[in-house]
Amino acid sequence: MNVLIFKNPEEATKAAFDIVSQRLEAGLKTIGLATGSTPLKLYEKLRSTNMDVSHVTTVNLDEYVGLEPTDPQSYNYYMNEELFKYMNFAATYVPNGVAEDLEKECERYEEILRNHPVDLQILGMGPNGHIGFNEPGTSFESVTHIAELTQSTRDANKRFFDKEEDVPTRAITMGISSIMIAKEIMMLAFGEGKAEAVRNMIDVPVTVDCPASVLQNHSNAIIILDEAAASKLKRNY
Ligand code: F6R
Repeated sequence: MNVLIFKNPEEATKAAFDIVSQRLEAGLKTIGLATGSTPLKLYEKLRSTNMDVSHVTTVNLDEYVGLEPTDPQSYNYYMNEELFKYMNFAATYVPNGVAEDLEKECERYEEILRNHPVDLQILGMGPNGHIGFNEPGTSFESVTHIAELTQSTRDANKRFFDKEEDVPTRAITMGISSIMIAKEIMMLAFGEGKAEAVRNMIDVPVTVDCPASVLQNHSNAIIILDEAAASKLKRNY
């Protein structure tokens, strides 16, 4: 793991942007994208470039079950608003959380991933160490599946919803093995609220109790932190 620590989220985001831009210029074909608050500034920077991405396909990690793509809380909507409507990607894929047959949708998504092997996967992490919606305890062998969200994840995400009961209880998520197949992974984590999970990801032996710790097994993972998120690390990086 290549751990890079920056003073604040702005500097960390700038570093992430430089890496993404460099990979795009080098001819990356498929980029894996995350939603949530962490990559928002990265997407803001990307959409304000005039970069030609007509050769690039995007695949997103996850989507809530039960939310229409037009629902402002859905990840389909988020991606359209934050990135897709500004950039000329060749194709963009986000799971369909309202598919009639959710199992089939998971299979369809795995097929998409097979056809578009991810060159660079951008990840955020939950305060409980989840990646995508792979909650603690999820098998490292998992592929795209329906995940039950833990109470702590629903609590962490309720800030985006009007009422707590509106937070979905399930999501379609790429599995841990579908994520790990990416040639390169770039994890972003900012703020004190992530510090414990960051320590469990980096400083503690790999365990399913902290899904993000699986990144220790990846041969090409860059971890981009701000000082607050890195504040509980025991070792110096
Ligand atoms: C979102 C996703 C999640 C988030 C994580 C952190 O597509 O896969 O794992 O990356 O919940 O969310 P934020 O960035 O809002 O703290």
